[in-house]
Amino acid sequence: MKTVLSGIRPTGNLHLGNYFGALRNFVEMQHEYNCYFFIADYHSLTTHPTPDHLQDNVRSVLAQYLAAGLDPEKATLYIQSDVPEVIELYLYLNMNAYMGELERCTAFKDKVRQQPDNINAGLLTYPTLMAADILIHKADFVPVGKDQEQHLEMTRTFGNRFNRMYKHDYFPEPQAFNFGRELVKIPALNGAGKMGKSEGDDSTIFLTDTPKQIEKKVKRAVTDAGPTEPNSVMPEPIDNLFQLMNVVSKPETVEYFREKYNDCSIRYGDLKKQLAEDMITFVNPFRERIEEIIADEAYLRRVAEMGKEKAKASASKTIREVREIIGFKPL
Ligand code: TRP
Repeated sequence: MKTVLSGIRPTGNLHLGNYFGALRNFVEMQHEYNCYFFIADYHSLTTHPTPDHLQDNVRSVLAQYLAAGLDPEKATLYIQSDVPEVIELYLYLNMNAYMGELERCTAFKDKVRQQPDNINAGLLTYPTLMAADILIHKADFVPVGKDQEQHLEMTRTFGNRFNRMYKHDYFPEPQAFNFGRELVKIPALNGAGKMGKSEGDDSTIFLTDTPKQIEKKVKRAVTDAGPTEPNSVMPEPIDNLFQLMNVVSKPETVEYFREKYNDCSIRYGDLKKQLAEDMITFVNPFRERIEEIIADEAYLRRVAEMGKEKAKASASKTIREVREIIGFKPL
C-alpha cells in the first residue's frame, strides 16, 4: 500500500474552504492509503518562537480533524514533537543542504519580507525540516497546494542527494498527490477571493462557528443593488453566494434562487437567510462534535499516544538505517 503524508500547521480553525479542499479528501484517502497526518508544531516555532497557546492550539486542531472524520485507527495521526527522531534526520539533511538553495526558496524570501526582525535559521532550514517529515516515513505521495510545490521539489533534491552521497538507493522520490476529483473552490463572503485568506475576519465560516456567528457573517456578506435585466451575468459577490449555496443547500433551493435572480425578482435578504440556515445545518454537527472531543481529554490523549507509537515505529526504523548508511555504528 502506498504511503501518503501531510503536515498541518497548528494555526487557526478549520473553515469551509479547508473542508471542501484537502480535508474531505483526506477522510476518503485514509481507506486507500497508508496515511500519516501530523501537526507541525516544530514548524510553528519558525514564526512563533514563544507560542502562547501551543498545547491548546495543537489539541484544538487535533479535535477538529477528528471531528471532520479522520480515523485514528486507520490513519496515523500524530504530533510532530512527539517524534523527535525527525530532528535527527533534519540534522543529517542540513549537513548536505546548501545556503544558496535554501536562500532561493520563495517561501523563505516571503518570510524575510514578512518578519525582517526575525530571520532565523529555522526559517532558512524550513525546507529541510519538511523534507525530514516526508522522508522519515518514506512517503510516496504528499498532497500539496501550489505554495508547497517548491518544498516538495527540494525534498526530492535532498533525498536524491542523500542517496548519491552515501551510495545507497534509500529514499524514494515523493510525488505530489492529486486528488481524483476537482477541488471545490470556496469563496469568501466579502465579495472577492478565496475563503480563509484573511483569517479571523468576517468573511470566513469556521467549522467551530455558532449559529449566531454564521447568521451575522452571512448577513454582512457583500451584495449589490440587484439585477436589472433578465438573465444577466452575475457579478462576483453574487456568484460567490451561489457557489456557497451550491455546497450547503439542496439543488432545488439553488435552482429556486437562480430563477429569482434570472427574472430579477430576487431579494438578497431572502437568499442570505436561506444560505445562513443551510450553513448552520451543515456546520452544526461539526461544531458539536469538536466541542465533545475537546472536552474529552482522555480520548485526545489516547489518540495522540496511539499516533505517536505508530509514527515512532516507522521513524525510528528509518533513523536506525540512516545512521548505519552514514556510518554511525557502535565502536
Ligand atoms: N509546510 C506545510 C504548510 O505550510 C506544513 C508541513 C510541514 C508539511 N511539514 C510537512 C506538509 C510535510 C506536507 C508534508 O502547509
